[in-house]
Amino acid sequence: MHWCVTTLTVTATLGVFGSAFARGLSPRQDAAPIPSSCPGVTATSPYTLSVAEGWKYTLISTDVSKPRSILFDTEGHLLVLEAGKGLTAHTLGADGCISESTTVLENPQLNHGLALSPDGKTLYVSAAPTAWSYSYDAATMTATDQTVVVRGMNPSGHSSRTLAIPPNNPNLLIVSLGSAGNIDGPTVVKETGRAIVKVFDMAETPSGGYSYNTEGWYLGYGLRNEVALVFDGNNMVWGVENSGDQLTRNTTDGSSVDVHVDNPAEELNYLGDPAVSNEQWYGYPTCWTVGDPSVIPDTSFKVGDQFVIAPNATFDDSSCAEKSVPPRLSMQAHSAPIDGKFDKDSLNLYVSLHGSWNREPATGYKVVEIAFAQLEDGSYDPVEPADSVKGYSDILWTENEESCTSSTCLRPSGITWHPDHSRMYVASDGVVGEIYILYKA
Ligand SMILES: *[C@@H]1O[C@H](CO)[C@@H](O)[C@H](O)[C@H]1NC(C)=O
Ligand SMILES: *[C@@H]1O[C@H](CO)[C@@H](O)[C@H](O)[C@H]1NC(C)=O
Repeated sequence: MHWCVTTLTVTATLGVFGSAFARGLSPRQDAAPIPSSCPGVTATSPYTLSVAEGWKYTLISTDVSKPRSILFDTEGHLLVLEAGKGLTAHTLGADGCISESTTVLENPQLNHGLALSPDGKTLYVSAAPTAWSYSYDAATMTATDQTVVVRGMNPSGHSSRTLAIPPNNPNLLIVSLGSAGNIDGPTVVKETGRAIVKVFDMAETPSGGYSYNTEGWYLGYGLRNEVALVFDGNNMVWGVENSGDQLTRNTTDGSSVDVHVDNPAEELNYLGDPAVSNEQWYGYPTCWTVGDPSVIPDTSFKVGDQFVIAPNATFDDSSCAEKSVPPRLSMQAHSAPIDGKFDKDSLNLYVSLHGSWNREPATGYKVVEIAFAQLEDGSYDPVEPADSVKGYSDILWTENEESCTSSTCLRPSGITWHPDHSRMYVASDGVVGEIYILYKA
C-alpha cells in the first residue's frame, strides 16, 4: 500500500490519525490542521478581503504564478496548474501550510485545464489546441508518458479548455471549448466545434488523440464559454457560462439601446449525465439571458428569459423560448464565473467570480455560494427559482468591489476541497498569484 513507503514524519502521525485508514484517506490528507497564518506568507496584493459571517480565510501562498485549476492528488499534494508555466505540486506540512513545492510539468503552453482520474494515476492537462494525458505517480509527484488525447481544438478566442472526469465514470474526459469571439456567428451550428462541451472515452483513445470537432459526443452546444464544469452528488454536470459583452437591443423603431450593464446574465446551466449525448441548444450566439428586464424596451421579460439582439420576422424572443434551453439560474452580468465545487452533500455550490472589464461599476472578484436542495426524485437543484436575481450569496470578496480592476482585486480562479472536506482551497491569478484556504469557523 502506498502509504507504507513513508517518512518518519508520516509514521509519527499514524498513531494520532489512525482513524484515517478506516475512511481510506492517506495519513497526510487527514493530518493537516487548518492554519490561521503561514510562516513567511504575507499578502503583497493591493486589496482587502472580507468574508461572510461564520467563515474565515488564510493566505497560504503568494509563490504561484497565474494559478488556474487546482486539485489534490491521492497523497494529499495540492496540484496547481500555473498558466504559462506548467504544473506544480505542493506538500502540506504538519502545520497545514505549504512545506515543499516541486515542478511536475514544465510547459508554457499549459493555460487552464487540469484533471486527475479518481484512482489518481492518470493526469490530464490542456493548452488551447490540445489536451494531454500522463501517467502520474503521486508518491514521487512525477508525470511520465505524455500522450495527446484530444487535438485540433480551435486555438483562437477563448483559450481555457476546462477538463473534468466524472467521479463515477473515470474513462470519460469532458472538455469545454468557448467561442472564438464575443458573438461567434458560425457556432449556431454545433459542428463548428466551438461554444460547446464534448465528452471523450479515454478507454478508446485513438492513436494521435481524438479530433475535437468530429469525434466524441456533445454535452450541450450554444454555450458561449462554459468555464466551470461541476459534478453534483449524482454525478450530473452543471456548467457556469461567461456570457457576452457590450450587448445592445434593437427597439421596434429600428434604433438600438445599450443594455450591457446588467445583461446578459451569466448562467448556471444543467448539462446532465455526461455518459449520455446531450444535443440541446443553450442559445448562444442568438439567445441571451435577461439579467435586468427593466432596461429592455417594449417587453415583459422576467430574469432568466432569453432575448435576441435584433428581433426579426423569422426569429424573435419567442423563438428563443421555443428552441433554447435557458439557464437554471442567472448570475450578475460580467461576474465571469470560472470554477465551482459542490460541498460534500451537494447542498451548496461554491463558484469563483473572476470579474470582467466590461462593467462599470465593476462586479465579481469574489467567491459565492449557491444554495441547492435535493428534490424528491433525488436530483439536485438550486433553491431559488430561475427568475431570481438572488440565488447566491457572497462568501469571500474584495472590499470596494465596484472600483475593482483586474490588477487591483482578488481574481479567484480554481477551487478545490481538501480531501477531508474541512476547507476549500481558492486560487487567485491576479497581479500576485495566491492560494487561500476558505473554511467555516
Ligand atoms: C438594429 O439596430 C441597428 C442600429 O440602429 C441597425 O443598424 C440594424 O439594422 C437593426 N437591425 C434590425 C434587424 O432591425
Ligand atoms: C433574423 O434573426 C436571426 C437571429 O438573430 C438571424 O439568424 C437571421 O439572419 C435574421 N434574419 C434576417 C432576415 O435578418
